[in-house]
Amino acid sequence: MISGGIVGSRSVTGFFHHSGHLVCDGVALQAIADREGTPLYVYSAATLRERFRALDDAFDGYPHALHYALKANSNLAIGQLLRGLGSCADANSIWEIDVARRMGFEPHQIVFTGVGKSPAELERAVPLGLKAINVESAGELARIEAIAQTLGRPARVAVRINPDIDAKSHPHISTGLKINKFGVPLDAARELFATLHGRPFLKLVAVHVHIGSQITSLDPLTGAARFVAAMATELAAAGMPLEYVDVGGGLGISYDESPVVDTREYVRAVVDAIRPTGLPIVLEPGRSIVGPAGVLLGRVIDLKPRNAVSEFAVIDAGMTELMRPALYNAFHRIEPVIASDDAPTQYEVVGPVCESSDVVGRDRLLRPLAIGDLLAIRDAGAYGAAMSSNYNRRPLPAEVLVDNGTWRVIRRRQSVDDMLALEQALAEAGTR
Ligand SMILES: Cc1ncc(COP(=O)(O)O)c(C=O)c1O
Repeated sequence: MISGGIVGSRSVTGFFHHSGHLVCDGVALQAIADREGTPLYVYSAATLRERFRALDDAFDGYPHALHYALKANSNLAIGQLLRGLGSCADANSIWEIDVARRMGFEPHQIVFTGVGKSPAELERAVPLGLKAINVESAGELARIEAIAQTLGRPARVAVRINPDIDAKSHPHISTGLKINKFGVPLDAARELFATLHGRPFLKLVAVHVHIGSQITSLDPLTGAARFVAAMATELAAAGMPLEYVDVGGGLGISYDESPVVDTREYVRAVVDAIRPTGLPIVLEPGRSIVGPAGVLLGRVIDLKPRNAVSEFAVIDAGMTELMRPALYNAFHRIEPVIASDDAPTQYEVVGPVCESSDVVGRDRLLRPLAIGDLLAIRDAGAYGAAMSSNYNRRPLPAEVLVDNGTWRVIRRRQSVDDMLALEQALAEAGTR
């Protein structure tokens, strides 16, 4: 653990400015980057704790479990930190389950979601006795049943229903419409439920919906919760009482400082919808917990003219470290780590990758930049490091966790040896 670079008040947490320096939980980001290099992810432990607790406390005693969606950021240390706060896990592949187990999550604390679980994944998952496998089709249910029958004990399943609700989010991260690949359509789900009485190796424990991510209005989220409540009531009346309902994740965050759904309002709406069923609620939050808790730091490596009004600022972080802008035109605030009062210049902030779509931020007004300046790309904690790649043979970036005035590397920067560890060069003689 390293404790240099403390410049801000430690009673103020998260990312804030102190004497012109952007700091994380009181530690200067410049000091961390000078030591660890860039591109670099930096996370605030205090923000992670605050955001998890805010969601958890908002239930005001109503029975619930928060299953942190590991897909948002599955760094071991981050998962462990959240587990320590009482989080459970939502895993989207058998490998996320493996990682969750190494974080210390027990099988009964894990739900297994995901639209395409391979036979090999199911062969490994069913015997674990997870809290539930969230089933996406009649075929998948039958495959789970066959494995459970071989084991001689029922598998705990939830059925993910596609409620045909528009999340009003970006089309690439909307999942609740009929045209999306996710879940079982309502009619088909009802037919499936009707078969369950005669299937002793399947134990239906919940119904599940997840209508999308980065949802910034309350209506679709409330609609999804009401839908699940109605399904639970219908199933109870048909002699299939559930153990809980799973309302998925999806709560959006403010990338551009425009208003988003308030956490307490969101939880109140969900609880109000589910309360008549008396069932505990499972949520699968990802972005809303970890998104604002991370920044990506990159350095300016080149500056060049662009047009009459703007310049290119080429930085050493791009789509290989943070895919979201290239993938869905996502907006992230960008700011120099050391501020100044100089009149701003317009920049196209671009990454170093050989793709025109590798633009981190368009038309940004920033104080005049110089080579070597450090920029912070804000709200990059979710779907940032988790989606990073080796394209252009760029090493995966390092990650740092700041906690209570000290910081530690929670993933070291990848080396070329790490990158090549799985590859086998041709024998010298065979290359002729
Ligand atoms: C099934 C499921 N649950 C939870 C999540 C987490 O969503 P979010 O990060 O928007 O909270 C996702 C991601 O889209 C998901 O697919």
